[in-house]
Amino acid sequence: MYPDRVVSGMRPTGSMHLGHYHGALKNWIKMQTELPCLFFVADWHALTTHYDDPTVIERSTWEMLIDWLAAGIDPSQSTLFIQSRVPEHAELHLLLSMATPLGWLERVPTYKDQIDNLSNKDLATYGFLGYPLLQAADVLIYRASQVPVGEDQVPHIEMMREIARRFNHLYGKEKGFEEKAQEAVKKLGSKRARLYNELRTDYQQDGKDEALEQAKAMLDDAQSLSMGDRERLFGYLEGSRKLILVEPQARLTEASRLPGLDGRKMSKSYGNAIALREDKESVSKKIKTMPTDPARVRRSDAGDPNRCPAWQFHQVYSDAATQAWVVKGCTSAGIGCIECKQPLIDAIIKEQEPMHERAQPYLDDPSLVRAIVADGNDVARKLALETMRDVREAMGLAYP
Ligand code: TRP
Ligand code: SF4
Repeated sequence: MYPDRVVSGMRPTGSMHLGHYHGALKNWIKMQTELPCLFFVADWHALTTHYDDPTVIERSTWEMLIDWLAAGIDPSQSTLFIQSRVPEHAELHLLLSMATPLGWLERVPTYKDQIDNLSNKDLATYGFLGYPLLQAADVLIYRASQVPVGEDQVPHIEMMREIARRFNHLYGKEKGFEEKAQEAVKKLGSKRARLYNELRTDYQQDGKDEALEQAKAMLDDAQSLSMGDRERLFGYLEGSRKLILVEPQARLTEASRLPGLDGRKMSKSYGNAIALREDKESVSKKIKTMPTDPARVRRSDAGDPNRCPAWQFHQVYSDAATQAWVVKGCTSAGIGCIECKQPLIDAIIKEQEPMHERAQPYLDDPSLVRAIVADGNDVARKLALETMRDVREAMGLAYP
């Protein structure tokens, strides 16, 4: 009933690295060609954990936007914006909080995990408990159908779905809904109306999912319907509620196959990262000094690629022929590690070249990025206001 739309965000807590590129960003770049996408800097979310040191957030916000553009997020296809520039996210967060049971927030796995992992920070705050609810507002406010996220975020998406369902249940009652829905059925014309009623019964009495799908497809085709009637008919299929908020689906981002330089997960805080726009010399130096199979002490010792982080890099960056050359050369001590790493250096530098090129104009003239984001903020805000109009009305807050 509502158009397909993708929403996702990232927290501006540091600079982006190749792990982000091979994980989330590549996925975003692909999705922007398939569906309308909104990508935003989750600066409020960053504050939930960095409230005592917000300077990094401001700096990272602009760096991150340049990184996205450098990586290939195309502002003519995607809407880029900053969360705090669409204050309606906060309004929806507040309104959703009224009916959100504390237990839902407390049992989100990331809540306890993060409190334990970041034990140097006091996260026993109201803001941090509300993290996934703010995230729900971020997505629900755009009636997004899909949310590209990593595996750790899936429980957050599940909670959003529960929040949306609960909201529709509590507030989707419209005075005279039943009558209005039946009026709308008549407007389908007698043949379609009969089919609609049959399919609705099949779904509601016998739980036939195909019937629901078929009925939805029919409504999609019925062009003469007004937006309001269309919404009512969708809502009437599943119950006797209007669907004000949409339940989004998680679009799982495959975990990046690129580890950090030491073989652990790539992370700035581990000091094992290559920045997205790292300069050439530094890339070369980092790869040359990255650890290899610890058993390969001398050049004449044979090595085992499976114990070597450089081999994991080859699995991301090298073609089959180069990979075969590595395995053979390593296990027979036919090649040295520096020789083995050269194709990696070349491949990473080649991958980054267009990123440096795309970033350059924005570095030369920061007002370009600001203009892109100002446009994005406007687009996002308009969509957010549309949803908020319905939300306020549903909750009895649409005072004349
Ligand atoms: N919590 C997300 C993360 O840490 C970031 C985020 C904030 C987000 N709001 C969102 C992701 C909305 C998707 C949709 O990765
Ligand atoms: Fe690793 Fe290559 Fe050295 Fe083998 S030759 S240990 S794969 S860097």
